[in-house]
Order: sequence, then C-alpha cells, then structure tokens
Amino acid sequence: MPTRQILVTSALPYANGPIHLGHLVEYIQTDIWVRFQKMQGHRVVYVCADDTHGTAIMLSARHKGLSEEQWIGQMSQQHQADFAGFDIRFDRYGSTHSEENRQLCEQIWARALEQDLIAARDVQQLFDPVENTFLADRFVKGQCPKCGAPDQAGDNCDKCGHTYAATDLVNPVSTLSGATPELRSAPHFFFQLEKCRPVVEAWIDRPGSLQSETANYLKGHFLGDALRDWDLSRSAPYFGFEIPNQPGQYWYVWFDAPVGYIATTLQWCREHQQDLADWWQNPATEIHHFIGKDIVYFHTLFWPAILHTAGYQLPTRVHVHGFLTVNGRKMSKRDGTFIRGRKYLDHLPPAYLRYYYATKLGDNQDDLDLNVSEFVEKVNTDLVNKVVNLVSRSAKFGGQTGLSATYPADDGRFEYAAAQGQAIAAAYEAGELSKAMRLIMELADRANQYVEQAQPWKLAKDPQQATALRDTVTVALNLYRQIVIYLAPVLPSLQQQSGDLFGQALTDWNLAQTPLLGQTIGTYTHFMQRLNLQDVEKMIEETKLENAAALANATPATADATEAAPAAATDTADALLAEPLAEECTIDDFVKVDLRVARIVSAEEVPEARKLLKLVVSLGGDQTRQVFAGIKAAYNPEDLVGRLVIIVANLKPRQMKFGLSEGMVCAAGGGGTEVFLLSPDSGAVPGQRVH
Ligand code: 2FM
Ligand code: ZN
Repeated sequence: MPTRQILVTSALPYANGPIHLGHLVEYIQTDIWVRFQKMQGHRVVYVCADDTHGTAIMLSARHKGLSEEQWIGQMSQQHQADFAGFDIRFDRYGSTHSEENRQLCEQIWARALEQDLIAARDVQQLFDPVENTFLADRFVKGQCPKCGAPDQAGDNCDKCGHTYAATDLVNPVSTLSGATPELRSAPHFFFQLEKCRPVVEAWIDRPGSLQSETANYLKGHFLGDALRDWDLSRSAPYFGFEIPNQPGQYWYVWFDAPVGYIATTLQWCREHQQDLADWWQNPATEIHHFIGKDIVYFHTLFWPAILHTAGYQLPTRVHVHGFLTVNGRKMSKRDGTFIRGRKYLDHLPPAYLRYYYATKLGDNQDDLDLNVSEFVEKVNTDLVNKVVNLVSRSAKFGGQTGLSATYPADDGRFEYAAAQGQAIAAAYEAGELSKAMRLIMELADRANQYVEQAQPWKLAKDPQQATALRDTVTVALNLYRQIVIYLAPVLPSLQQQSGDLFGQALTDWNLAQTPLLGQTIGTYTHFMQRLNLQDVEKMIEETKLENAAALANATPATADATEAAPAAATDTADALLAEPLAEECTIDDFVKVDLRVARIVSAEEVPEARKLLKLVVSLGGDQTRQVFAGIKAAYNPEDLVGRLVIIVANLKPRQMKFGLSEGMVCAAGGGGTEVFLLSPDSGAVPGQRVH
C-alpha cells in the first residue's frame, strides 16, 4: 500500500478548566487512530492546541487576578501533563494565542474580505451590567424562541435543535451574574455562509467526508433554509485578536480556534523544516478532524467554507463521537463522576481506560457509557486474564529455552492470526475500535486454548520434553506477540514492555506476519495488575468529596432564602434564652453545610415580596449566586453592594415565585428590622470556606 500523508486533529480544549474523562474519549480515540496509522508506515502528523480566547477565559483570569497570558500558560501546562499521562502523543501541541495563529487569521480574513464574504452591520447585543461585559452566547440562558423549552443556551436549543441569536431568547438571563442583560448596539462583522453553499454542499455530499448521521443532521437542520450569516466579531472587552483596522473589535473565538489547527501545523512544519502547503494545500494530504457531536456545526458548515475561501484543502473526514456518561448518567459533580484526568491517573494506569474506551467506540455518535463494574470486568477478563496471562505463563519458560529456530506446528494458529491482521486493520481504519478489540480478543482466546492444551508447566517438569517445551513456548509467545502488535495503538505501554521482552520494537504492523525465531527472551516482570473495584470506588469517593467542596464555586446550585423570619430577640444575651439551642450535631453533620465568604455584587428590592431583597453574590472566579434574603426591613439595597457576607452555598436551589434562589445569606437576629448580616474580618476573600 502506498504511503499516505495524514494530518489529524482533536478538538482544541478550552484553556479554562482541567481535562476530564469526558474529554478523554476524544483524545484517546484520536491517539489510537494516529498510532494505528503510524504503525502502517504512513506519514502522520497529529496536532492539537489549547483554545485560549473568549469571554470566559478573560473573566477567569480577571477573577483570579492573573493576566490572560498567565492563566492560559498555567492551563496549557496542566493539559499537556494530563495528555502525556494518558499516553496521548501529539506531534505538536500549540495555543491559539500564538503569532502564527494571528498571522494566519489575518491572511484568511483578507481573503474573505477580497471575496466579499464579510458584511458589516450594527447589531443589538446582550450586555451584562454587573460583569460589565458583552455576553457570549454561552453566557446567556433563556427560553428557546422556537419550542419554548426553558433553560436553553444562547445559540441553539438542545430540545428542538433550532439555532438562533442570543437576543432571540425569551426571558434571557446572564449566567455570569444572574442579571437580566441589557440590549446594546455594537458594530459587527458577519461571514456570509450562504454564499459558500455550493462548496459546502458538495463537500457534505462527497462520500467519506462525514458519517451519514452527521450529513443527515446537517441536511435536516441547516441546509433546508438559507444559511445564516455567521457573526465573527466581538466588541471589547474581549480576550482575543483584534481585527486589523477595527480598533476595539475582536475575532470571535470560533473564528481563530479552528485556524489554530493550521497554526499548530505551521509550528510543527517550522520545527521540522516542512512546508505548510504540503499539508494544507496538497490534495494528496488527508485531513482528519475528530470532534464531539456538540461542535458539528462549526466544523462542517463554517470551517469548510473558511478553508475554501482561504485556499486550503477541505477536510477528508470529520469523525464525530458522542458524549461520555458514567453508570448510565450524565457526568455529575454531585455523584463524583465528573472525574478529572489527573485524579484518574493518581489512582489507575492509563492503559485500563484506553482499552475500555476502545471496546466501546465505533464510527458513530452514540454516547459512551463508562460503567464501573463493566470497566473492572473488561480489564480483568480481557487484559489481565486473556492477554497478560498468556505471556506470564509462557515467558518464564521462554527465559530458559529461548525460541526455536523454525516455527513449530500450531494447527494454523499463527497463520490465522496473521491473516486476521487485515480485518483488524480495516476496523481500526474505519474507527470501529470495538470491532477491532473483539477480533483481537478472539485471537487471545485461541492462543489461550493452545496453551491449555499444550500445558507447558507440565512439560517443564520433564527433562525429556525440553524440545516440546521450547516449541510450545515459541508458539505461545509468538501468538502473544501478534496480539500485542494489534493492541499496540491502544496499549503503547504494553507494546513497550513486550518489545523489551522480545528485544524487538513492536512498532510495525507487518511484524505480525512473521514469527520471531531462534533468539533468547528477556526477563518477564509483571506487565499488568488486576483492577479492584474498590480502587475505582475510592477514586469516585475522593472526587465526590473534592467536588462537594468545589461545588459551591462551580455550579449554580444551592441555597434557599425564605420569607419566614426567624424568632426574635434584641441582644445577644437575651437571644440565647429566647431561641432554644438546636439539637446536638456531629462534626460530620456540620461539615455538610458549606458556608462560604461571598461578596454582594447587586441588591434590589423584590416589589411583590414584603420582606425580600434579591441579591447576586460572587463566590470568586466567575461563580455567582442569586439569593433572596429576608432583610428588606433592615437594609437599603444600595448599602449592601460590595459588602462581604457568609452564605450557605450548598443548599438545594429552590424555585420561588420571584425566581430561583440559590443560597442563603447568614444573619443573626430575629427578623424584621432586627437582622444582622454576618461578615468576616477584613482580609477574607469570596469563595473561602467557613470552618
Ligand atoms: O468545544 C470546545 O471545547 C472548543 N474549544 C473546541 C474548539 S475545536 C477547534 F475548532 F478549535
Ligand atoms: Zn427549542
């Protein structure tokens, strides 16, 4: 087969949070595919980068007191360490905040202007008066303008699939502060996607570009109507690249993010004295993007149009996968199933997850369920009992006997497995990883059957059987070697360990066609341990505890404000007498209540409620809570803004007549005008836990 030239990408993770097991579905899937292609001898470059721009990152940096560059620098280091920990091997890992990316964006922009694809017009935009920023679509929630579903994101509805502008949302709310956004006018630049329809449609229809479910989705949801203009700019303040000759206007993050694929390739090219055109403007080069089903729109409508405009090759294929669920449910902080990659690595080896994901992945967009007991079962049954057991039972004799000089009779097993190499390769090529794993495990079953029949442990006891023992070991180890070669894209660590044992790097797929003969074997040391369910449970338990602590900072959840006033007393001495002490509780009970320092960022009266003020409090970072507090009689709203208070941050949110209450502000006193908000001494900062 001629050598192919293949450029591969995974979606660029936002530089705004850690890599978790959900992300890893994609990176592991892509890495396996890349390793497989490299083993075929193809020229493959696998690039990825941090996606660094946008409002969210700007706000995170702002709230952390860091410059954006410092913040994205930290994130990039963490991401790269996590990816390396999972044996994900990029040829180059870049950043969208690079000079290469800026220059490419400028070039592409110029081409789009030349071709009259950019339209300028003023738009009404949502502006958060509390955070003092225009709101990116994802920071607005509201009712879908088409089907009326509540709580929908600012760009599309996950109930009916409709896409729209954030300003179309009914009853919009800023997710940053809980404030009702204001409409403000700002100049914007639009990419006229409809003008590119013929190119995009032809690409979608070209066999191989997309899985059929993706093509059908695009036809059903977008191509039936005129393609909407794509708003490519954002007004200051924004962290990104300023548009040339347009002070105060920035490219929207989704413009420069995919250009990051090209920019990172360019960095790789510069490092390796290669020509970018050979990778992005060469029809003989294949370009493969791996993405999740949530970002299909950007990669299959907008991105091909941009590439065409700029004179680059369109993707050969966009491989779309589904989401991760854990034990059948959406990953959840509360359940401890929102597991960070780093946490996993603190407890378990990467090989287990890589193999498990491989057994569950096909060329489709189905969600993938990480079922904890199935995970344990598959690792132990397949990897430990079938694969590693094969080598551990044979290698100890192999050390004494070495491998025979000619390949012994084995009932055609080696030949069969060699022939299966083609079907397994076809499955990898097609992204049918679960099929590839099934075929390989079948070979492992056949090899184990052989060992059980030949019983090398019995032969080893009889010096007369020395030749028979060596023949048996030669067959068993060669069958094992074939299996490891086929599993190598999934299990690079086993590939390495086994390569050391055989004194031969197992990096070429075709090595499985020929047995290894007439040589000695290295010393076998345990390649893989059994996986205990308790270890997985411990990881989940730890995650749960850590998430519980972080929860108050991470999700709009919690607390409760009530109109009912507590019982009364006017000074501390009398208060104790007036309000009997509550029932005794343990430390464990007490720590369940997550008390946090918070800053009041806005306070307003709730006209319909006699006693309530509506507060928005900040917990640090970009975390805010809306709280209804029964303190209207005691405080003027304007006196409260800026003040530090203590809130109960993990009370279950409660839907009140006036809105969602997501916390409770702590106060002493009996209600009415006798309310005394608690505040920490100066020096405390929002988000700190009260112990
Ligand atoms: O959805 C996301 O996580 C984006 N950061 C993916 C960007 S992929 C590419 F276009 F850069
Ligand atoms: Zn809808």
